[in-house]
Amino acid sequence: MSTSLDKTSLQKITAHIGARVHGIDPAADLSDDTVAFLRDALGEHKALVLDAPGLDAAGQERFAARFGELTTAHPTVPGGETPNVLDVDSDINKANEWHTDVTFVVNPPAISTLRSIVIPPYGGETLIASSAAAYASLPEPLRAFADTLWAVHTNVYDYAEPRPRRTAEAAYRETFESTPYESVHPVVRVHPETGERGLFIGGFVRGIEGLSTTESRDVLRLLQAHVTKPEHVLRWSWQPGQLLVFDNRITQHYAIDNYDDQPRRLSRITVSGDVPVSVTGQRSRALLGDSSHYSAVPERSAAA
Ligand SMILES: [Fe+2]
Repeated sequence: MSTSLDKTSLQKITAHIGARVHGIDPAADLSDDTVAFLRDALGEHKALVLDAPGLDAAGQERFAARFGELTTAHPTVPGGETPNVLDVDSDINKANEWHTDVTFVVNPPAISTLRSIVIPPYGGETLIASSAAAYASLPEPLRAFADTLWAVHTNVYDYAEPRPRRTAEAAYRETFESTPYESVHPVVRVHPETGERGLFIGGFVRGIEGLSTTESRDVLRLLQAHVTKPEHVLRWSWQPGQLLVFDNRITQHYAIDNYDDQPRRLSRITVSGDVPVSVTGQRSRALLGDSSHYSAVPERSAAA
């Protein structure tokens, strides 16, 4: 048994989401017990924050790899310092839209890790919402309705939205969309480890199967309002040298653009995920694009 856990503690940040982890240095070699502790804590709290003053890109990779195989940086955006690192850089892109990472592929990442490098003197917080709390807060008839729905997710932007004004942002979007991907996921996903149900929607959803564009928008607006209810959201104010780990299977997040044009830089590394499963045990399916260079699609497990 590792003695490191004796000094470890969790400090809850909100009722539904978020905990600070004290006494674990993510730059250190972690024991199996410590990794199991963090995995359990992530299942319960959905998002964990660790102080990581000495952590570099290689250390972040080592840490993330303890939770599973890593994805490459992104299906279409090239890696940064290593092929697994996605540079999150306000000069290039500001992710100020509610989303779950890379849901346009058939097996989106299980876990996302974000390491803060340059943080503006004000603003730049990350919001993370518990989609489990969102699902649980729905009235029973709406839960039963949501259980039956499937949504199409894609990386090709909805051009009803305004085009970016900045050249760098426009170029990023062009790269982002360079290979189109489309996948169909259950609107209610059963978490593969905890069995919890969560609303699995977010910014890459372009419609609900079987509904018109207008009907889809109305249904999504209703469900998304539950995801983003303040009670379900952690608002994390960054310091440089921190590591935020969140369960991408049961959360959404949003980077608030409230820091003027000051630099904000983080490094993202993600852990491969399984293929989502609905409440009736049906798996998501890919409609368009081969993402195997990004994240190998696991074989169907016996339980699924
Ligand atoms: Fe993201």
